[in-house]
Amino acid sequence: MSLPTILLSHPLPPEWIASLAGRVRLLTGPAEPPGFSGELLAHLDVAEGILCLLTDRVDEALLARAPRLRVVSNMAVGVDNIDIPACTRRGIPVGHTPGVLTDATADLTMAILLSAARRLPESARDARQGRWGTWSPTGWLGADLRGATLGIVGMGKIGRAVAERARGFGLRLLYSNPAPRPEVEAALGAEYVPLEALLRRSDFVSLHCPLNPRTRGLIDEAALRAMKPGAILVNAARGPVVDSAALVRALTEGWIAAAALDVTDPEPLPPEHPLYALPNCLIVPHIGSATHGARRRMAEIACENLLAGLAGKRLPHCVNPQVFGDV
Ligand code: GLV
Repeated sequence: MSLPTILLSHPLPPEWIASLAGRVRLLTGPAEPPGFSGELLAHLDVAEGILCLLTDRVDEALLARAPRLRVVSNMAVGVDNIDIPACTRRGIPVGHTPGVLTDATADLTMAILLSAARRLPESARDARQGRWGTWSPTGWLGADLRGATLGIVGMGKIGRAVAERARGFGLRLLYSNPAPRPEVEAALGAEYVPLEALLRRSDFVSLHCPLNPRTRGLIDEAALRAMKPGAILVNAARGPVVDSAALVRALTEGWIAAAALDVTDPEPLPPEHPLYALPNCLIVPHIGSATHGARRRMAEIACENLLAGLAGKRLPHCVNPQVFGDV
């Protein structure tokens, strides 16, 4: 019996995808450019599964070229790169990798929040470039955390993990979410507020919502103007949740104090982008889940989802369970 053909858009360490060995015919694309391109596209007509990254677009055009496709498995928790309704219409289950990157992403969120609050990029650069001088009582002053307010936009798994960490730093917690989460309020003392109040009252605003039509551009000019002038915006969700042009103006004109971005729009952010020129903007290259453990588990779960789909079984982590007849 021939093995099902699987397209993997980008090479992964063999030990991360060991469960596929001998069970699929794996065709792997090059590290660059991202997405399904070149030779891999030529095999779409026979592909029964796709193992993709958040940089790969899986849309109508691609699906139309893959008539034998039975499963799409994303090595990410976010699935904004995939046209889910189009997959659902075709009865194709889509897998993702929640849970295993929660701690890594929450840790990174706190790392960049603290870095921006305490101006680590600027002060480290100044030390390295000979601008340390004598110890200065007023040099590189940053924001206090204890007693300050953190507003969390999106109280899912990662939002909650950030809230847990933030409590340890003495931050007061506000959150906005499509629905209140009484268990989080009980456990962490977080207050559920409308976004407008969160923006107005928070010293730190941290984004943890998925990217969808409702959240695209959520942090626009009006939202940035609603924030405190001393506030710091943290984005470890998806770049397009924030309007980049409005953010440049907000940071340049002092509507807010600083931003710490793990994700940007566009991504990657080109070196000439004005955000890089701003000393109050910290940018790291979408590394929220970039720990050895998290990335390996993400790949392993992506393989589990893929193999389940090929076997016609429910995926352990499926974003469109309707394809299995679930409500
Ligand atoms: C990372 O951004 C993910 O969605 O897994």
